[in-house]
Amino acid sequence: MGKIFVDACLGKETPYTPVWMMRQAGRYLPEYRAVRTQAGNFLNLCHDPQKACEVTLQPVDILDVDAAILFSDILVVPNEMGMKLDFVTGEGPVFESPIETQEDLDALIGAEAAANKLTYVYETIKLIKEQLAQDKALIGFTGAPWTLATYMIEGQGTKTYNICKKMMYSDPELLHRILAKVTEVVKFYMEKQIQAGIDVVQIFDSWAAAIEPAKYDEFSWKYMVQIADYLKAKYPHIPIIMFPKGIPAFLDKVYGNFDVFGVDWSTPMALAKEKLGDRYVLQGNMEPCRLYSQEATRECVESLANTMKEGRHIFNLGHGILPDVPVENAKYFVKLCQDVSRRK
Ligand code: CP3
Repeated sequence: MGKIFVDACLGKETPYTPVWMMRQAGRYLPEYRAVRTQAGNFLNLCHDPQKACEVTLQPVDILDVDAAILFSDILVVPNEMGMKLDFVTGEGPVFESPIETQEDLDALIGAEAAANKLTYVYETIKLIKEQLAQDKALIGFTGAPWTLATYMIEGQGTKTYNICKKMMYSDPELLHRILAKVTEVVKFYMEKQIQAGIDVVQIFDSWAAAIEPAKYDEFSWKYMVQIADYLKAKYPHIPIIMFPKGIPAFLDKVYGNFDVFGVDWSTPMALAKEKLGDRYVLQGNMEPCRLYSQEATRECVESLANTMKEGRHIFNLGHGILPDVPVENAKYFVKLCQDVSRRK
């Protein structure tokens, strides 16, 4: 049986418009919280292929989404490059020793050696593929080099990005060397995810909007395109989704060999369709907080279906689902997307 999600990524006609949700495997599901408690902490869960596989499959069973997304985190990459990582409850990720100098960068493991350390991710993918229904797709993912670098340089999440932007404007060569080293690791990492069995790649540039539009290509997009070019040259049949969050001013300049453009919730879908709809399949983009209300959800899904009715589309949120969303509302969203778009 074919996979409707993969077909939609490749722009083929499908019986309905498929749907999944960013961060669909997570704390809003009681079943996730139970496994997370057994694991002890979040990184243990990422490191345990059996448990990571279990939570990957939960939203497929519970919500009937058309694709599973590998359960892991973008920050396992810098972690395996040699940066000690902790997830502090209530505060999020923290790296003990952020990169400040060339010497700090040189101390990190690069390229294939770092990618080879992520064996638990490849094991998880193999387990998922044994258990996932034939008609569902498995999405593998990575953070974009820029988004990864923000954590590697700041040491944690940030509101101002002042430390990495200080580097951007006062020592851009060092920032480029960091981005280039991360890009090399990510190329091998995604290649190994493909070899382990993922059907689709998504590159998350969650902190794209921190960069001024005139500098976005130089410090982020071009590295994402390098990763896409590397993968497309070897695995042309594997669809690639680019998700740069919050860059409506850059839409006119988007280029590259990939399949799906992930539209975030701050960008009107009609605008994305006008600028990119003839070149890329569009994914998105309901404001995730609409999930608190079924009425607000219905209004948005119907409007998206209407905007995209002659366009190539995949339903999703415009960023990740939040931990306090009622599960029944998430189910409602998924079913509604599939129903409103069903072609007779
Ligand atoms: O369901 C899925 O989407 C798959 C799993 C997934 C996680 N993180 C699990 C997770 C994915 C795709 C990610 C990507 C990720 N991680 C991104 C990019 C996507 C985005 O949302 O923009 C980013 C920026 C991170 C970094 C990260 N990981 C932060 C900032 C945090 C803490 C904030 C928070 O939500 O608590 C995490 C932790 C994290 N990653 C959790 C989950 C389920 C929560 C931790 C827990 O269960 O204790």
